[in-house]
Amino acid sequence: MKAPKILHPEPAGFAKAADLLGSGQLVAFPTETVYGLGADARNGRAVAAIYEAKGRPSFNPLIVHLPDVAAAQAYVAWSDTADRLAQAFWPGPLTLVLPLLPEHGLSSLVTAGLPTVALRVPAQKSAQALLRAFGGPVAAPSANPSGRISPTTAAHVMAGLGDKVSAILDDGPCLVGLESTIVGLAEAPLLLRAGGLPIEIIEVALGTALAEAETPRDPKRVRAPGQLASHYAPNAPLRMNATAKRIGEVFLGFGAMACDLNLSENADLHEAAARLFESLHQLDAKGLPIAVAPIPDHGLGRAINDRLARAAAPR
Ligand code: TXA
Ligand code: MG
Repeated sequence: MKAPKILHPEPAGFAKAADLLGSGQLVAFPTETVYGLGADARNGRAVAAIYEAKGRPSFNPLIVHLPDVAAAQAYVAWSDTADRLAQAFWPGPLTLVLPLLPEHGLSSLVTAGLPTVALRVPAQKSAQALLRAFGGPVAAPSANPSGRISPTTAAHVMAGLGDKVSAILDDGPCLVGLESTIVGLAEAPLLLRAGGLPIEIIEVALGTALAEAETPRDPKRVRAPGQLASHYAPNAPLRMNATAKRIGEVFLGFGAMACDLNLSENADLHEAAARLFESLHQLDAKGLPIAVAPIPDHGLGRAINDRLARAAAPR
């Protein structure tokens, strides 16, 4: 495929992106978390093209993006808990997994045949404008080759999937910088992925602690193969919780310290999250092993540590 068209966040850009989605093409678009690789979620061929472009195992289901709560409710068995979380956090960096309604009209490739679907209402203005211009459900995983670092700029998308998408809607860097937090609501609320919405805030809204589906940060507690699968990985090996730089490494710091690049000199976890993937992309370009300073394991730090643990996992 020839080089993708770069679209700008203006009415003509949104209209063009919506047209391309409508004709079954892949369009990369920004959200507040990361750039997504979008396709019409009702079009099986278009959804298949997502899996093919990413080189993604087809059993790993995708998130469906919608402009608002009302649009989301059309696909799933809604519940009081869903409503409480949606009212509190949508639009925003939260994905809810809910039981699919019959006659949902989504391609079964989106859900990988599961009886549930992951739904997200992104807050980013361009994502909202695109979803409204398109007027249908958009399936979108992060716009990176499977297992590699997620994209937080259009340039990252271009470098990883530039020859595989029809267009990239460029609206600058993503403000949150980590994928959405995923909460399963098919049964009792379950944390399926730490992400851009801190778990502690979700627990306040729920009024109870959120059970965790997996503990990928601690290899000893992994129960099923694949839970600590290598993911979000740079080309170079990565070492986390590094207190000092070893010879031949590049050092990614956090807080006041000597390092090659700092996630946040002020030890601000929001800033660190927003810079994480861009920093890994930058350091990876140097071709040296990457050491990363300890990151506090609360708030967005939990999601940062989750991503680092997967990047550090054996390949
Ligand atoms: O921030 C984000 O969530 C980004 C942007 C583009 O919205 N998207 C994203 O998608 O990170 P992706 O495909 O990289 O991650 C989707 C995650 C996967 O871990 C998948 O296993 C899980 O959602 N998932 C999707 N449907 C599910 C379901 N029915 N049950 C359980 N997990 C599900
Ligand atoms: Mg991803």
